[in-house]
Amino acid sequence: MSQRVLTTESGAPVADNQNSASAGIGGPLLLQDQHLLEKLARFNRERIPERVVHARGSGAYGHFEVTDDVTGYTHADFLNTVGKRTEVFLRFSTVADSLGGADAVRDPRGFAVKFYTTEGNYDLVGNNTPVFFIKDPIKFPDFIHSQKRDPFTGKQEPDNVWDFWAHAPEATHQVTWLMGDRGIPASYRHMNGYGSHTYQWTNSKGEAFFVKYHFKTNQGIRSLSTEQAQELAGQDANSHQTDLLQAIERGVHPSWTLYVQLMPAEEAADYRFNPFDLTKVWPHKDYPLQRVGRLVLDRNPDNVFAEVEQAAFSPNNFVPGIGPSPDKMLQGRLFAYADAHRYRLGVNHTALAVNAPKGVPGGADNYGRDGFMAVNGQGRGARNYEPNSYDGPVQTGRPLSAPLAVSGHTGTHEAPQHTKDDDFFQAGELYRLMSAEEKSRLIANIAGGLSQVSRDDVIEKNLAHFHAADPEYGRRVEEAVRALRED
Ligand code: HEM
Repeated sequence: MSQRVLTTESGAPVADNQNSASAGIGGPLLLQDQHLLEKLARFNRERIPERVVHARGSGAYGHFEVTDDVTGYTHADFLNTVGKRTEVFLRFSTVADSLGGADAVRDPRGFAVKFYTTEGNYDLVGNNTPVFFIKDPIKFPDFIHSQKRDPFTGKQEPDNVWDFWAHAPEATHQVTWLMGDRGIPASYRHMNGYGSHTYQWTNSKGEAFFVKYHFKTNQGIRSLSTEQAQELAGQDANSHQTDLLQAIERGVHPSWTLYVQLMPAEEAADYRFNPFDLTKVWPHKDYPLQRVGRLVLDRNPDNVFAEVEQAAFSPNNFVPGIGPSPDKMLQGRLFAYADAHRYRLGVNHTALAVNAPKGVPGGADNYGRDGFMAVNGQGRGARNYEPNSYDGPVQTGRPLSAPLAVSGHTGTHEAPQHTKDDDFFQAGELYRLMSAEEKSRLIANIAGGLSQVSRDDVIEKNLAHFHAADPEYGRRVEEAVRALRED
């Protein structure tokens, strides 16, 4: 094989890639050295904005295979036949830290799946936790500001983290989850994934079901203690990336079994709490888990930047048979992601290989045109308006999912929708479910953080939340915080 020739961006052969052109042997450099100028300028532009949250991540390809018949609940094409396989791309992530952080930290993990179905990409952008800290998207920027770096100290501050939670009683459930044993997964392979929100499935008769997704790891749950995590983060800041990459390279393909909880749509209004509240789980005794299929990861991306950094998942990417619920958090997210992608990657990010709807025969077909980096032919000479008389693509007239019933007045509403919409009972239930050892570790983790807070009123407000969740839980956290502060 003949040696390949190094070229400039415009394809011209490069004569010297080791020495810049200069005026004389020791002289200043020449503006005419196109290769040097291009090389430095190109290098200056290598970084794009990192994701505002979930900046650190790892991705892999694989497939989803249907194992159980769910056609009674959704007419989604990729779920309509037992044995059917659909290609997927999954990006795992940590949430709070920027790209330069470490993997082994106490933080939720992202679990974002892109199903390349024949009817479009279906993105399920979830976490490894079934609940979340807040239930209204208007609080999200404040919440994230409090968890990321402080504007003055430039680092995460317990004062800010706990001050936000002091003002967000609805976070108590997720805080209990995060400070518990599952708060630091040993790796991305050893944790579950959840859709977290309630979504909607519609079957071929038009009947609607509300649905929650649970991906249970087949590797078993493995977690790290705070001390183990600190040690590992020091040894290998990229421990999750190393683990995932190496497992797949070794041929050890991680897998998850997908289960769903299904609620007939007409039961939602009378359920004993708001089934669209992201700070709550649906007890399995009310809505048992039903198996759907198996997700397997078996291929590492060839290029991390092209495929993982440029991957774009949007909770608004639905396919026929699947749609949103009225969950306010979800509704906010339906806007936020594609907006972030247009900023972070540009308006043509859907043409990038990892984001393009490769399962759809012929790919995406619409009248969106032009913009920065229009690389996919832009419809060539075809008419770019609709309706037209030239055989361009037309609408189907078939909504993707059943309509949602709404009532009431427009405006901001502070009052709870359901009588049992209190913020504490499920946090208390989670605490009472834990073994004695787990409870002790939970208390120690909370106290370790809360005791670093400088303001007594912030500590008191947080303690009140744990007391409200369970009197023993509150008492033990209070004693542990006091002991650490007296030290
Ligand atoms: C990433 C916004 C809540 C899971 C992101 C990004 C934004 C965002 C702007 C960066 C997207 C990008 O640049 O590609 C929001 C807002 C939320 C919210 C406004 C609340 C209103 C949630 C919740 C979950 C979640 C509740 C999980 C249940 C994720 C994941 C990613 C992400 C997994 C990373 C996706 C990837 O790997 O590319 N979020 N988020 N977010 N978010 Fe959220």
